[in-house]
Amino acid sequence: MKILAFAASLRRDSLNRRLLDLAVGIARDGGAVVDVAHFREFDMPLYDEDVKDVAFPPGADEMRRRVEAADGLMIASPEYNYSVPGTLKNAVDWLSRYRPRQPFAGKTGVLLSASPSAVGGIRGLWALRVPLEGLSVTLHPDMFALALADRAFGEDGRLADASLQSRLERLVANYLRMGERLRG
Ligand SMILES: Cc1cc2nc3c(=O)[nH]c(=O)nc-3n(C[C@H](O)[C@H](O)[C@H](O)COP(=O)(O)O)c2cc1C
Repeated sequence: MKILAFAASLRRDSLNRRLLDLAVGIARDGGAVVDVAHFREFDMPLYDEDVKDVAFPPGADEMRRRVEAADGLMIASPEYNYSVPGTLKNAVDWLSRYRPRQPFAGKTGVLLSASPSAVGGIRGLWALRVPLEGLSVTLHPDMFALALADRAFGEDGRLADASLQSRLERLVANYLRMGERLRG
């Protein structure tokens, strides 16, 4: 199973990127082939139909190519103001306009979030489900929202709380099983 993984944060010290890296390692140990993208590779302007009618921006073309090459998506996204970061929603909007087939159709996905807050970004993930499911991504029902993320990682990059670490491992393993079942 081939997965495209990215964190929807441009920040150098992104907590979501740290969580993503951890989950990617687990997925690779589980046999998945993972293409890890930096969100900067998908840089694109604000959606503009007039621009689209001339040409899609190169960052959107690149994201489309990488999504199409994958069976599944692993997205670690911050929660911004109780919802999806505008940068990620903008990218989803651009990709949704490719024809004859928008590239998300038929993919599976798993959603992760990390936040220094006590809530962990789960509200942003619920909001992210709406456009992705609307675009026919089959998302794993369980999600992983890491609260107090600025204090959650050990020196080895794993989660210091062993029970959280094993919950993440179970979630990724369950997602791989689901993705394999639905692949094709
Ligand atoms: C515009 C903005 C809005 C934010 N809103 C929320 C929020 O609603 N809930 C939350 O838990 N954290 C919120 N935060 C804090 C982020 O969780 C925090 O900056 C986090 O580290 C971002 O993820 P990153 O480390 O991967 O960049 C917000 C941050 C920004 C910049």
